[in-house]
Amino acid sequence: MAIIAPSLLSADFTKMGDEVREIESAGTKVLHIDIMDGHFVPNLTFGYSMVKALRPVSGMVFDVHLMMTNPLEYIENFAKAGSDIITVHAECDSDLDRCIDLIHQCGKKAGLSVKPKTAPEALFPYLDKLDHILVMTVEPGFGGQSMMPDCLDKIAVIKAECAARGLCIPVMIDGGVNASNVRKAAEAGADMMVAGNAVFGAADRAAAFRELSERSCK
Ligand code: DX5
Ligand code: ZN
Repeated sequence: MAIIAPSLLSADFTKMGDEVREIESAGTKVLHIDIMDGHFVPNLTFGYSMVKALRPVSGMVFDVHLMMTNPLEYIENFAKAGSDIITVHAECDSDLDRCIDLIHQCGKKAGLSVKPKTAPEALFPYLDKLDHILVMTVEPGFGGQSMMPDCLDKIAVIKAECAARGLCIPVMIDGGVNASNVRKAAEAGADMMVAGNAVFGAADRAAAFRELSERSCK
């Protein structure tokens, strides 16, 4: 069974604390938090103060996805705010080795993400020190888009390279996951899946989370 991580981007922004409590009581263990800077992607969300505000509310793993041009400048603040996993993009302008090293110096798990048009091989120089891999299955920037199914093929390429090196790094997918494609994504090898609209957009979020989790059995 894959781990389903609801994305805060699809929550009701007028009541974030309640939204996080509700989703945690539905059985969620990982909360995906999308940070957009208006440069790397054409959208803005929230900053590390949101992570800090929500930290006392929840014991969930905070999986923070930095869609930022210069994440290196903000990693320490996101770490201090209470992030558990901090993921930067292979396509960003910051030095990736420095980002990963800084995330580790802050005592957090380091993730690296690739956008749909980026080859999975872009991750390979960093694999030996990564804790987490995020394969985008939509162009980042907005929730509620349709999955680009071809992106799932990257998972096998990544897993083969990890296996060849004796590594076992969880691969998460992000974008357009729903009840009709979650099985296919699991079969493609996804260990973790972000689900924004499919969970927060459902009338019964707990039922939607359970259904996605159950259908993700490989
Ligand atoms: C998109 C974000 C996603 C988004 C997913 O740029 O990185 O995490 O919230 O939302 P859904 O599941 O609705 O595609
Ligand atoms: Zn995301």
